[in-house]
Amino acid sequence: MNQTITVDEQLSEEISDASLQRSLARSRQIEEDISTHPGRYRILTGDRPTGRLHIGHYFGSLANRVRFQNLGVHTMLVVADYQVIYDRDGVGQLQENVLSGLADYLACGIDPEQSTIFTHSSVTALNQLLLPFLSLVTVPELQRNPTVKDELSNNPHRPMSGLMLTFPVHQAADILFCKANLVPVGKDQLPHIEVARVIARRFDERYGRGQAGDPIFPQPDALMSPAPAILGLDGTKMSKSRGNTIEIGMTADETAKLIKRAKTDSERQITFDPVNRPEVSNLVQLAALATGGEPQQIADELGDAGGGGLKKLVTEALNEHFAPIRARRAELAADPDHLRSVLREGNAKATAIAEQTLAEVRQAMQMAY
Ligand code: TRP
Repeated sequence: MNQTITVDEQLSEEISDASLQRSLARSRQIEEDISTHPGRYRILTGDRPTGRLHIGHYFGSLANRVRFQNLGVHTMLVVADYQVIYDRDGVGQLQENVLSGLADYLACGIDPEQSTIFTHSSVTALNQLLLPFLSLVTVPELQRNPTVKDELSNNPHRPMSGLMLTFPVHQAADILFCKANLVPVGKDQLPHIEVARVIARRFDERYGRGQAGDPIFPQPDALMSPAPAILGLDGTKMSKSRGNTIEIGMTADETAKLIKRAKTDSERQITFDPVNRPEVSNLVQLAALATGGEPQQIADELGDAGGGGLKKLVTEALNEHFAPIRARRAELAADPDHLRSVLREGNAKATAIAEQTLAEVRQAMQMAY
């Protein structure tokens, strides 16, 4: 039977406002349910190991992952090493970035007994899912993906790699191989979750079900982080390539130096007003996140302390919050053999899961011989 893809379920270009609102509402619902029913959820999330993890990663996602893990949710963490090469010509300091990110995870509280940390390049059966999955999306759909489109418009003279075009499908394999039903992500990743949902649905429609008659893949939900977006020290998006980040693994002195150079304004009275005073408010927000306080109250307490007083407070708050994490991180980083063994164990666990799923896929597709 030749099933064509109907128009209304085609992958669209942008995530509409309505669908963003739906994701936010759904996220709030899940947040409420998850602490009473952690067993209903399997989380998959992860990072591209392109550099060092910074406090934006920490407050934006890492702290949240630790919270879910500690609630008892089965959590899978992908170190997306193949994603490093979708938009660059070499692997760079890949090995170093992977081990450093792993040290960050563990130092921040990810427990490899409760969470599975794996590099997707090591999980062969996961990668094999890419083949049937590629049959389920069209080239125009992939060309409409916002990340793919950004790459095209940012580098109009650089021909795009096949991996760049298809990485959202590979990312769907990251999510679906372990039948994750929850993916905690930022807004920029929503279109990728949509790809995974569509692939799960189309697989079910075209290739069939598992032995018990249930769909093989669940349609995963995005879980939008409740954390406010954190800006870099220059007031623009926090990103390694802009040199405006504070890395989790930096020393207290390095942190102090960077905050000293952070952008503020000349007004002495400190207020929390993200729209009109984004840089000052961002520092207030960081102090709030690091101390567990409320931004408004912190601003009130600082009063007319000026940029200097604000920076002093943020520096102390961050350094105090990260001191135990940094101490653990230093110990972990000094033992790369241990870090590699954590990865090998994670990879073995992920491989067992992936092989089971691939067996079901082969069965459904009449490819089990
Ligand atoms: N693309 C994600 C990022 O840039 C990393 C990632 C890879 C991921 N595979 C994933 C995130 C699966 C969530 C689910 O950060």
